[in-house]
Amino acid sequence: MAGSAPLSGPSGGVALVASGSARGEQQISNDQLGQRVDTNDEWIRTRTGIQARRICGPDQSLSGLAADAGREALSMAGWDADSLDLVLLATSTPDDLFGSAPKVQALLGARNAVAFDLTAACSGFLFALITASQFLRTGAMRRVLVIGADQLSSWVDWDDRRSCVLFGDGAGALALEACPADQDGLLGFQMRSDGSRGECLNVPQSRDRRPLVDGSSHQGGHYEPIQMIGQEVYKFAVREVPAILKALLQDTATSADQLDWLLLHQANQRILDAVADRFAIPHSQVLTNLANYGNTSAATIPLMLDEAVRDGRIQPGHRIASSGFGAGLSWGAALLRWQGPS
Ligand code: ACO
Repeated sequence: MAGSAPLSGPSGGVALVASGSARGEQQISNDQLGQRVDTNDEWIRTRTGIQARRICGPDQSLSGLAADAGREALSMAGWDADSLDLVLLATSTPDDLFGSAPKVQALLGARNAVAFDLTAACSGFLFALITASQFLRTGAMRRVLVIGADQLSSWVDWDDRRSCVLFGDGAGALALEACPADQDGLLGFQMRSDGSRGECLNVPQSRDRRPLVDGSSHQGGHYEPIQMIGQEVYKFAVREVPAILKALLQDTATSADQLDWLLLHQANQRILDAVADRFAIPHSQVLTNLANYGNTSAATIPLMLDEAVRDGRIQPGHRIASSGFGAGLSWGAALLRWQGPS
């Protein structure tokens, strides 16, 4: 492993050291979408809170966005890319179906890091953060970059007004470091999956049988655009997110008024408000930027985190309750304590 500080050893802590983010360079307003499908700014804003989304330009890619976010996090941390042990990329939209993390590792110049993808849609970033933390806790690794990035614009049916208004492209990164247990920044976590409800939201493979040799055929490698039963996903989110946050708070003996921030997956402002109200958390403590970006899937949580760190809202020592939820179905929650760069 690269780096010089001692490993944390079994049951060590995980410090949340630095963050970064990147976004698609083309901004598309609600009114502009109304030129393409039968929708309007008033409908989208009142039902979702979204005003615009950012879509990758012709020279951008998923790997590029992820690397840009990662570079920002490394710069804030003051770390050399060579000191990383792992680049873990949460994405459902890799440039390469075999995985985009190694490409990101190469773009960053993180020559000593192993790199791989983790797919869990909008829960992906939290699942990746929790997964990476296990390597740090055991002392197997010392420095990790967790990146959540998605380019959903590639998979949206831009003629389906029920879903196309929701999504955008972005990336966010978090630099994590092994630390003593008493400085732990991952105070608790919960993770759930329910594949029996997966058809509420998916990107299924197209049924495309092609002849191979006499008597045999093979599946062609194509996918359908995003398919979503919006109301079911909405009901799932407003039921399961409060339940998992309640379990997280109980498990960590934390009361809602001890939280500095609520940082939820940015899917719909109405979902954010409903969850905050269930815990009587003032809306001023609910981090939200989906008006500008829409739902960037695995990127929403680290992108929001990075903006709030950079504008000074999130300060060292702040406690953040976070929850990701989405396709799978999958959902998770984590209680985080921000440390910041030393
Ligand atoms: N513009 C105008 N009208 C619209 C639009 C639109 N963009 N979309 C739907 N409508 C119409 C519908 O056709 C329907 O009209 P009808 O009554 O004449 O049939 C009417 O508006 C109401 O449609 P609903 O689907 O009932 O609208 P709802 O209030 O449920 O809002 C929404 C839809 C915003 C999608 C909501 O259900 C939602 O946010 N669900 C959660 C979706 C989500 O967050 N998905 C991502 C999860 S994260 C991940 O893993 C990627």
